[in-house]
Parts: sequence; C-alpha cells; structure tokens
Amino acid sequence: MDKLVIEGGKPLSGTVAVSGSKNTALALMAAALLPASGKTVISRVPDLRDVHTLANLLRILGARVDYENHTLTVSAANVSHLEAPYELVKKMRASIYVLGPLLGRFAKARVSLPGGCAFGPRPVDLHIEAMRKLGATIELDEGYIVAKAKRKTLIGAKLNFKLVSVGATGNALMAAVLAKGSTQIANAAVEPEISALAKLLVKMGAKIDGIGTSTLEIEGVNELYAVREENLCDRIEAGTLLTAAAITHGKITLTDIEPIHIKAILQKLEAAGCTIKTTANTVELRAPKKLNPVSIVAKPYPKFPTDMQAQWTALMTQAVGASKITDTIYAERFKHIPELNRLGAEIDINGNSALVRGVKKLKGAKVMSTDLRASASLILGGLAAEGTTEVLRIYHLDRGYEKIEEKLRNLGASVRREQYDEFASPKPPEED
Ligand code: UD1
Repeated sequence: MDKLVIEGGKPLSGTVAVSGSKNTALALMAAALLPASGKTVISRVPDLRDVHTLANLLRILGARVDYENHTLTVSAANVSHLEAPYELVKKMRASIYVLGPLLGRFAKARVSLPGGCAFGPRPVDLHIEAMRKLGATIELDEGYIVAKAKRKTLIGAKLNFKLVSVGATGNALMAAVLAKGSTQIANAAVEPEISALAKLLVKMGAKIDGIGTSTLEIEGVNELYAVREENLCDRIEAGTLLTAAAITHGKITLTDIEPIHIKAILQKLEAAGCTIKTTANTVELRAPKKLNPVSIVAKPYPKFPTDMQAQWTALMTQAVGASKITDTIYAERFKHIPELNRLGAEIDINGNSALVRGVKKLKGAKVMSTDLRASASLILGGLAAEGTTEVLRIYHLDRGYEKIEEKLRNLGASVRREQYDEFASPKPPEED
C-alpha cells in the first residue's frame, strides 16, 4: 500500500495548473452512452482512479473507450449489455450515473445498488423516484435496481426533488433528454458539474432550458449525436491547493481555473485574512502570518461545498481563535477529525457541527485516510505540522487528486510517496 510522508513547515510558493474536474468528467462520460453512433470526445479528463473505474464500466456495457493525453473517446454504438455490476459500483458510487442514460436510450437497465459510504448513509431514493416518475417500473432484486420503461420509451414528467441532489439531477436529466414529451426538474442542483452536463447534452442535440437555474425544462428528442467537449477545471482541487498555501503561510498562483466556480471558497479565504487576486482563469493567494477564525456551513452550490469541509477544518486548526464547521449535506462527514486530533488539533464534534479551537502548532504523526477529502485534510495538517507526518491508505486520495504530491513538491513542499506493509507489526524492543 502507498503512504505519503510529509516534512511540515515549508511555505508553499509558485504557480500550479489545476487539473480537469473529476466530478464533471464522470457526468460527461455517462452522457457519452446516449448517442447511438459516432465518437464522443472529452478533453481535459484527469488521470484518476474514478475515471478509470467508470471507463471500465462503460466498456463492460459494450462501449469502446480510449484514453490518451487526458482525452477520452467513447463510441457507444455497440452498447448492449445493460448491467452495471456490483464489483464496479461498490468501488465508486457515481457508477449510478449510468442508470439514466441506459434507461433513456434502451428503456431498461440493471444497476447495482451502491451500498454504504465511509462518511455515512448515502441513499439513492431520489434517483429511483425520478425514474419511476419518468415512467419506469423499478424493482430491487438481489442488490440490483432493475428498471424498465413501462412503454417503449420513458415519458416526460414533472419532477420536484425534496432535496438538492447533484447525482439525481444529472441522472434525471440524462433520462429525460430522450423521453417522449416534456419534463420539468424543479429544485434541480445548480452545481457547475450539472450545467456542464446540460451544455454537453444540448451540443448533442437535446432541448434543455433553464441551464444554471434550479428549474430545468427538457423537451425530449428522438436521437442524440456524438460531439467534442472540454471538461471543466476541478474546483475542489483548486480549493484544496489554495487552502494548502494558506495553512503554510505561502503565496501561490493557480492557472486553468474558473474563479467564479470557487467564489464561496475565495470569500472565506479572504475572511481568514488571505489576499486574493483573480483574472479570468487564474487565482493568486497570499496568506497572512496569522489566520482569522472563519466558520463555514457546507450547503449546495453556490454555497460552501461539502467537498471542502474537511480541508477547511484542517486550515482552522491554525487560526487564532475558534470556528464552527457545519455540514448540512453529510451530517456524519467527520472521520478526519479524530485523525487531525492525533496531529495535536483540538476539535470537538457535536451533531453535524465541529468546534475547532485554533492556533496550537500541530505535531507530525501517523494518520489514516478514511475517504477522499479526509485524506486531503490530513495532508494539509501534515504540511502545517512540525516534524514528519505519514498519511496512510492514500488509495482514497488517488481516486480524486491527480499527481497531488508532485504538484505540492513543485510548490516547495516536502512530500514523498512510499510503499508500506499495512499488516507488518512493529519490531518488539530488544531485550537487554
Ligand atoms: C456529488 C459529488 C460529491 C459531493 C456531493 C454533494 C459526484 C460524483 N460526487 O455526490 O463529491 O460531495 O455531490 O455536493 O459528483 N441524497 C438522498 N437521496 C438520493 C441522493 C442523495 O437523500 O437519492 C442526499 C445525500 O445523502 C446527501 C444529499 O442528498 O445528503 C446530496 O447528495 P448528492 O448531491 O446526491 O451527492 P452525489 O451526487 O452522490
């Protein structure tokens, strides 16, 4: 297994390019199942484990998928095996994204239920409810969602999500574009990933109004066409790198980023005392010597993202004073906190909030990653800590951060990847 070994205390400085967005790439790749002929070409696709997992799933369904130089090409003409197996879905919950396009194009699909998640329950009831409203019968059979359109195609319908869901909005959208008649999706997610998906679908020939708003209006079409599209930049990677610069009192410039997508994060960094300068596609951050405590509440876009909550918690351990971190999306997403406390942080969890008492110097230790963003927060802790921090089980990190240690090293951090034996027990002390 791999671990990251970090010697903390070095301020980050320099320029770094942000990679393509993981979550947007996954949505665009699922949409590539919709055209019945031609090649969908998506550029700026990050080289990540989650991307390869979905590429493999598309191949199992019968698509031809090539990936070279960050460009992914999908030919979905021969898709005929309409089952997403448990072995792949359990590796990555976003595999549920194939449900909508398969059902929309073929009127049937069998997709494994994703099961649990490291940071609490993550149901898929909204996805299932949306497909039912669009005219599908859904049965649960041996851990699989078995979906069939009651007629030959799905039928447009009015959907009103009881809570904002990125995945369910994306799935409903991909199902509705080939449905007969019109569909309205109310309380739709407005995350950039969803707008990017909708724009790709429009390029493919779909009819969608209200892109970027919480009400999407879709008029079904008979066929979609393969096109070329460029993926967005990764707003969460961007936020993580900026936070890494802030926690080390550094100064960095990000390129290849749309600052508008990280507005809520930039506002909080400014409130913490950082100086921020933006252009159309760059962000420069200069961190202060002393960080102000800044509370956050993670909510759907355009508010502060839950995927930055763990990293912000790490940052606040170095602020002068106390701050409160609340997650309204995943109430139990706090597995990183006992690990940050092993580095010497003082954080208490209370319900869906955590109280961080800042400014104690962190001290290096061995810590364990439990999920993707938790890993990122432990790296931030390690960068700020005195001495050596070892972040174990970083396979979580490899799901969603492209060459993160290389990027941090280029910014002056001391970070190296090493292999270790998870089950090797330490040698007993020698007897006198
Ligand atoms: C996506 C992101 C993930 C991010 C999350 C919230 C991808 C691949 N992943 O995940 O990184 O943390 O958005 O911004 O894009 N819910 C239900 N029933 C459902 C679906 C969701 O109750 O059927 C709940 C979830 O438990 C959660 C909330 O709705 O509390 C939002 O989840 P959702 O937006 O669906 O997250 P994902 O699309 O899975």
